[in-house]
Amino acid sequence: MSSAETNQEEANKWLTDLWWGVKCADEERDYYNNSAANYENFSAILGWIAPQLCMEGITKYETISGTQIPRDGRAIDIGAGTGLSGQALRDIGFTGQIDALEPTENMFVQAQPKNIFTLWYHELLLENKETSVPSNTYDLVYSVGVFSDRSAKSGCLKELVRLVKPGGHIAVNCLKRFWHGYLEVAAHNLQGEGKIEIKHVELFEKFHHHTKSVTVILQKNCK
Ligand SMILES: C[S@@+](CC[C@H](N)C(=O)[O-])C[C@H]1O[C@@H](n2cnc3c(N)ncnc32)[C@H](O)[C@@H]1O
Repeated sequence: MSSAETNQEEANKWLTDLWWGVKCADEERDYYNNSAANYENFSAILGWIAPQLCMEGITKYETISGTQIPRDGRAIDIGAGTGLSGQALRDIGFTGQIDALEPTENMFVQAQPKNIFTLWYHELLLENKETSVPSNTYDLVYSVGVFSDRSAKSGCLKELVRLVKPGGHIAVNCLKRFWHGYLEVAAHNLQGEGKIEIKHVELFEKFHHHTKSVTVILQKNCK
């Protein structure tokens, strides 16, 4: 077996073990912490394009709505990992401050030399628990590949709403199966409470492998 095949096999196993072996927030944090040094290699082998799909959702929303999320504003990357999603935001011209919420030390070690992020919050996003990130702070709160049924569950969406400024935007890319029936319900509930508007939902045929994903754009109401 060639080393390329071995790597593909290792990457497939890494993903399968994450999806079907990891059951809760602490296990997920430890899983990423222990595999941080290989994360970008596995992501490349698996064809991880979710950061680009999140930004594609943002730019399509901007074109359709005639709204622009200020490129010199302030953003926070929830589950920032090694900085792939932070770099993707830079690649669509975002020059403002980007902060990071990332619970694992070893992902932080990989990301820090890239100088993408300013402030770091080493915390898990959890249901029914506020992070220490201040309220009403960001023009854009975004998250790529973090919402699931393991750790950052759908009930965490309201914490993202707390962090964004009135009138600011939230962008989330996740697997389609975590949008339909999960995050979608939480978003509709928040919209029903008058806290947000669901502005744009874009379905993509990819995430990695052949799994479908969704980029969702929400806007926090001003009152
Ligand atoms: C698939 S990676 C995505 C990393 C980065 N956003 C990217 O696009 O490459 C998921 C990241 O979310 C972090 N994470 C997992 N559960 C989390 C939670 N409950 N709160 C915050 N971050 C979490 C992991 O440590 C990991 O760095």
